[in-house]
Amino acid sequence: MKKILVTGGCGYIGSHTLVDLLEQGYDPISIDNLVNADEAILDNVAAITGRRVPNYRIDLCEEEALRSFFRQHDDIEGVIHFAALKSVGESVEQPLRYYRNNVLGMVNLLENVRELQISSFIFSSSCSVYGNADELPVTETTPFGEAESPYARTKQIGEQLIHDLARATAGTRFVLLRYFNPAGAHDSGRLGEAPINPASNLVPVITEAAIGKRKELVVFGDDYPTRDGSCVRDYIHIMDLADAHTKALKFLIEGKNAGQVETFNLGIGEGVSVLEAVHAFEESTGEKLPYRIGPRRPGDVDAVYASNERAARLLDWRPQRDIAEIMRTAWEWEKVR
Ligand code: WQD
Repeated sequence: MKKILVTGGCGYIGSHTLVDLLEQGYDPISIDNLVNADEAILDNVAAITGRRVPNYRIDLCEEEALRSFFRQHDDIEGVIHFAALKSVGESVEQPLRYYRNNVLGMVNLLENVRELQISSFIFSSSCSVYGNADELPVTETTPFGEAESPYARTKQIGEQLIHDLARATAGTRFVLLRYFNPAGAHDSGRLGEAPINPASNLVPVITEAAIGKRKELVVFGDDYPTRDGSCVRDYIHIMDLADAHTKALKFLIEGKNAGQVETFNLGIGEGVSVLEAVHAFEESTGEKLPYRIGPRRPGDVDAVYASNERAARLLDWRPQRDIAEIMRTAWEWEKVR
């Protein structure tokens, strides 16, 4: 079995990707410093797959600890790099912490990947690299926009790090995956989003409001130039997102990449507004959601959604789940977590 390092393996996307990797016959191990995750989530992964993935509690900024890890694991054949701080708002308040963690940590990781000539590297990038795109849907050739936050800029820098490294060395092949809005939970109801820090993304805020963990959802503005005045996003089910990572790994391992760096948008290819998401939650769960309209949130773009044609064509990847399934699975998880 091919040994795959998943950094951030205890996180939301990381843990769901561990499940998919195991089900596809890979041998994953995790590095996670647990700054925003609980290692116990690997018990949930084990409950689904029958395998307890080992996690090494290493901070990617600790150069020596990371180098020593790679000396012990010189049989790693691929890396999927999720580990990063990801709160847009927090990055505005603490930019240096975000640049240190997301950029310096990635430089340390890539140093080891280069020295060991690890053949496949997948980077967890983000639709936020596009900023406030003029044309929709955004395609992989849509140029970087002005980053709306330091978080988004660390993703732009991360992509540039990879392009510059690829130009300097031939040993590793790269895939950049630009996520739109990951949401939902595992079909089994045994795994889902379980951040240590308070949720700020829409779907967990909805389920917390519905179950009474918070008074209500505040819709951040209904005066945008969209069909119902609320912001439009491309929500992608976490299991479809995990599947895309395993398909991207297979794509690299089988040498199907034309260029040394290949980029893919991961969205479902259509926009859903905040108010439509609220109604989708109520319809798919039968629950009444307490919400009110509040002021706009600074930094929000009016609308962004993907063209995912390239991933469909080259990765043979097609998202299977819609916003109703996102809300149904997110609600099932909220009730048990
Ligand atoms: C979605 C919509 C809010 C909460 C973020 C990151 C992005 C990417 C995806 C990683 C917006 C509205 C939200 C609430 C609301 N992450 N909202 N009330 O900001 O689109 O994207 O996650 O790659 O980088 O920025 O996601 O879930 O915060 O917001 O009205 O309490 O829901 O205004 O329109 P966002 P989000």
